[in-house]
Amino acid sequence: MNIVILAAGKGTRMHSDLPKVLHTLAGRPLLAHVLEQARALKPQRIVVIYGHGGDAVPRALASDDLVWALQSPQRGTGHAVMQALPHLIDSVPTLVLYGDVPLTAAQSLATLVEPASQGALSILTLDLDDPTGYGRIVRDCGRVVRIVEHKDADGATRAIREVNTGILAAPTPALRRWLAGLSDNNAQGEYYLTDIVAAAVADGVVVEATQPAHDWETLGVNSRAQLAQLERIYQRTQADRLMEAGVALADPARLDIRGTLECGRDVFIDVGCVFEGQVRLAAGVTVGPYCVLRNVSLGERAQVLAFSHLDGAQVGADARVGPYARLRPGTELGEGSHVGNFVEMKATRLGAGSKANHLAYVGDAEVGERVNIGAGTITCNYDGVNKHRTIIEDDAFIGSDTQLVAPVRVGKGATLGAGTTLTRDAPADQLTVSRARQTAIPGWKRPTRKKD
Ligand code: UD1
Ligand code: CA
Repeated sequence: MNIVILAAGKGTRMHSDLPKVLHTLAGRPLLAHVLEQARALKPQRIVVIYGHGGDAVPRALASDDLVWALQSPQRGTGHAVMQALPHLIDSVPTLVLYGDVPLTAAQSLATLVEPASQGALSILTLDLDDPTGYGRIVRDCGRVVRIVEHKDADGATRAIREVNTGILAAPTPALRRWLAGLSDNNAQGEYYLTDIVAAAVADGVVVEATQPAHDWETLGVNSRAQLAQLERIYQRTQADRLMEAGVALADPARLDIRGTLECGRDVFIDVGCVFEGQVRLAAGVTVGPYCVLRNVSLGERAQVLAFSHLDGAQVGADARVGPYARLRPGTELGEGSHVGNFVEMKATRLGAGSKANHLAYVGDAEVGERVNIGAGTITCNYDGVNKHRTIIEDDAFIGSDTQLVAPVRVGKGATLGAGTTLTRDAPADQLTVSRARQTAIPGWKRPTRKKD
């Protein structure tokens, strides 16, 4: 099939400088969601009609598989589809989607297209309690005969509750013919795509109306309130999918997935967590309240405690992170390791069973197994120009408040005394300490206040 996506409209009610289809749902532009549905149908062509906002839309979503057609000025939905005609293949039907209707299921679309490949005009309709603003489906003896826009409708027509969702599929040569016959002689002075329904009926072509599996699939975004409402619907469907797969959610209404979240069995996710990019949680993982996880994978039974922020990290099985931990890109935690409160790690490999339990910065480091990193330890990895690596071998013990001035290496089994500023390598199995020797001065007296 060909797919035409209408995305040239202004979106006045968003009150925004950003073109409407670039506003985000679950962290991605509305149009990106529609493109995903379109691609799932494996079409021969995808033509996106853009206009309002100029090149911003094609620049944001550029891709080799898309044809961009400019509609300027915007003279209605029929006029918009006309801009796509030079790019359409006649031997397959054409599906029209809206760039601001992000939640339609690929299955509903596949069902809609089927009659169009048999020569019918196929439209997606909905029964609404309040049909205000929508085009009404006018039937005669049960057969769809035309669509009348709300602004053109008389009282009797406005009473019809079956509305046009705007999504339709048509045989392509017939679509060309019907569009050529459109006029803008109507209440809005626009070329209405909806007028092709009456044209099809006049041609003796059957018009099939189908309904989506869920009403919300065809909801569009015209305002920020509607966008927020669709966001909640989207998140709820994600939460339901997870629970069906065996995930325990403390509250399915307090979970946000902005990307893909894959979970094993018996994962528990507490309230207020945000998942971004690609996140994988193996079986038995627990994520505490108010955590942000972006592009991370957690091994079996790993625990992330409250208020932790993980980005671009890999966490091994049975490891424990947080509360209040920050893992930055390139962090790899070995099995059973611990990263505790107020510890930041970046581009660091922490070996199995190693621990950094309190208040530390570990960056650009290679840490072996069973290493203990004391509170207040800092890798001084940056000299103001370049980054340098710190290497800590297996079984080392780093005393509290140590600075490791990289590049530097701590040998296997070495101990660093608390407060050490390490500027040269520390030998294996020895105690290295650099600090002023402690002295006590006998007979020393505190100063006393001067008398005036
Ligand atoms: C349209 C339908 C109406 C339907 C409703 C569903 C027509 C004439 N009316 O009305 O029957 O009930 O959608 O929401 O088709 N667009 C362009 N170029 C234009 C005009 C619009 O690309 O010149 C795009 C918009 O960006 C939007 C879509 O087409 O994605 C629909 O436009 P909109 O103005 O929202 O149509 P409605 O008047 O709501
Ligand atoms: Ca609309």
